[in-house]
This record gives sequence, C-alpha cells and structure tokens, in this order.
Amino acid sequence: MTVTPDSICRMPKAELHLHIEGTLEPGLCFRLADRNGIKLAYGSVADLKAAYRFANLQDFLDLYYQGTHVLIEEQDFYDLTWAYLEKARTQTILHTEIFFDPQAHTGRGIPFERALGGITRALGDAEAKLGLTSNLIFCMLRHLDAASAERTLDQALEHKDRLAGIGLDSSEVGHPPENFKAVFERARKEGFRAVAHAGEEGPPEYVWGALDLLGVSRIDHGNRALEDAALVDRLVRDRMPLTVCPLSNLKLSVVDDLARHPLREMLERGLMATVNSDDPAYFGGYLNENFLAVWAALDLSEGQLFTLVRNSFEASFAEGARKQTLITRLDDFAKSEGWQTG
Ligand code: ADE
Ligand code: ZN
Repeated sequence: MTVTPDSICRMPKAELHLHIEGTLEPGLCFRLADRNGIKLAYGSVADLKAAYRFANLQDFLDLYYQGTHVLIEEQDFYDLTWAYLEKARTQTILHTEIFFDPQAHTGRGIPFERALGGITRALGDAEAKLGLTSNLIFCMLRHLDAASAERTLDQALEHKDRLAGIGLDSSEVGHPPENFKAVFERARKEGFRAVAHAGEEGPPEYVWGALDLLGVSRIDHGNRALEDAALVDRLVRDRMPLTVCPLSNLKLSVVDDLARHPLREMLERGLMATVNSDDPAYFGGYLNENFLAVWAALDLSEGQLFTLVRNSFEASFAEGARKQTLITRLDDFAKSEGWQTG
C-alpha cells in the first residue's frame, strides 16, 4: 500500500528534539501574561503571530526568550508542558525527549526547582493518563559563560532522578563546543547523557567538537556535517543520531526550500537521521506537519519514513523494554499498512 497523509499521522512516533519553551502558542502566551499581570509588547495574538518572521537563528531566539517571560509560577510550566503533551498524543507520539533552558528562567529570578517541578509534574501525568513516556534534558545556553553552565549543572545534580541528560543550545556561531568541555565532562561522569546542537548554523568543526570534546550521544540538527566527507564517514560509522528539524530549518533560513532539504541525502549517505519539530509554536508545525512536509517535498518512500521513525526509537534514551515496545509498535503498524520496509 502507498503512504497517505493519514497514515503518516497515525504512524507511531518519537520526538527527540523539542524545546518546551518553543511550544508556547500565542494564545497561551497571552493567557499566561494576563494571569501574571504582564504587559506584552504585542497588542493581540495576531500581532504576535505576525512577528514570527525570522531571518536567522538569532532573530528567532530574541523572540523566544521574550516569550519565556510569561512563565512565572510552577503551574505556568505545567500548563505549557501539558498543552504540548496533549498535542503530542493526538499526533501518535509515544515517546518524547524534551529540552528546557534553566538559565532562561533562573536568569530572571525564577528558581530552577519551580520550572523543573511544573514540567516534570506534567510529564508524570502524561505517562499515567496518556501512556506517553518521556525524558527531560536540561540545556546550557551557549551564549552564556562556562561558569554559569557549571552553576546550572550543580542545580541539576540536586534533581538527578528527574533528568536524563545535558544539552547545548542557543546562538551557535561564535560559541563553540570547547567552551563547555569541562562542564559536559563533569555531567557525563555524573551519569547524564550528552547531546548538543551543532551544525545548524555553525561549521562542521562544531560537530567534530560536539563528538570529540563533549562526548555526545546525539547531534541536534547536524545539517552542515554534510560539508565534510570525513565527518559524514565518522557519523555513519558511529551510527550517531542526528535530530533533524525540517520546518525549523526552513523558517530560520538554514535551507531556502524544503525541496532542497538535506534529509533525503542524509538517509542515502547512511546517516542515522530522525525528524523533529524543535520549536513548533514558532515554526508552523508539530511533528506530523514536519513529516508531511518532508514527505511531500522530498518524495520519501515508505521505507524511508519507516527508517526515520525506527531511528528515533533506537536513538531515544528510553530504557530497554520500553524501546523494544516502541519498535514493536512500529513494526506492527508497518505490517498492518502493508508497507515495504526492507
Ligand atoms: N533554542 C531553541 N531552539 C533552538 C534552535 N533551533 N537552535 C538553537 N537554540 C535553540
Ligand atoms: Zn533546537
């Protein structure tokens, strides 16, 4: 049978690259601002939406950090996370690994524990009520210094049981991985998994740095790795997952046209690519919309769609039995759809 939009929407999925602060929909932003007595710089939801036009990553980040200012109480973090999780459920996402940016909150006087508390309470409810499993990854803002990252790691270590990994995000160019070598080393010694944004706007050297200096288990984005044949060989050899975000890439001008997005080339060169939504409230689509867009633009086969999802289950930090369950769910789905996956 052939792939249809409906089958893509029903396909079991995992999401491995999702910034919870990037799921703040304009409507919720206004509700939280109202609840917290905050005056936004935009007069209406429509005005705010109209501002979602970005020339590059920094343009977007400026608005993204502004949006975080409506998150004040623990319940705000809960409501934000729960809204995403309910959406994820409707998109047949069975497992999700969520980033949050502690320094975007502690830097405005919001305690680490308050943000963590609201997010993890929603994640617990999602597992209990929706059967949706998750892991939480705290990201270091790379435009801030290593001392701030070390302090953030100290805070994370007080809540080790609720955190799976450390990540690295924010403005890439000019903030190379080597700045965070020591903090990542300490985090990994403490048992955290490591991931890092690399090769979104930054050069292939930053991807090498993420591998060799930060000891990552996944590369977030990784688009520019394709410029370096030796790096591609290394990523293929190590089966290093890339958490690719097509609509984000389009909205931030990492690609100028989805028809020229490198996802298909990544698969053809043997890279372990996955599809993710990054900051869906800002980039015009959640996970299903990302799959639908690349399927249409790149004419992906059912085997390629299957590989993308299977890669994300394999690359997840879900524990062994859960991972196997997820893979079995995908196998059963492909069989029931009559997909050729070999
Ligand atoms: N923070 C949120 N989204 C991001 C992205 N796409 N790249 C870097 N930092 C981010
Ligand atoms: Zn990201």
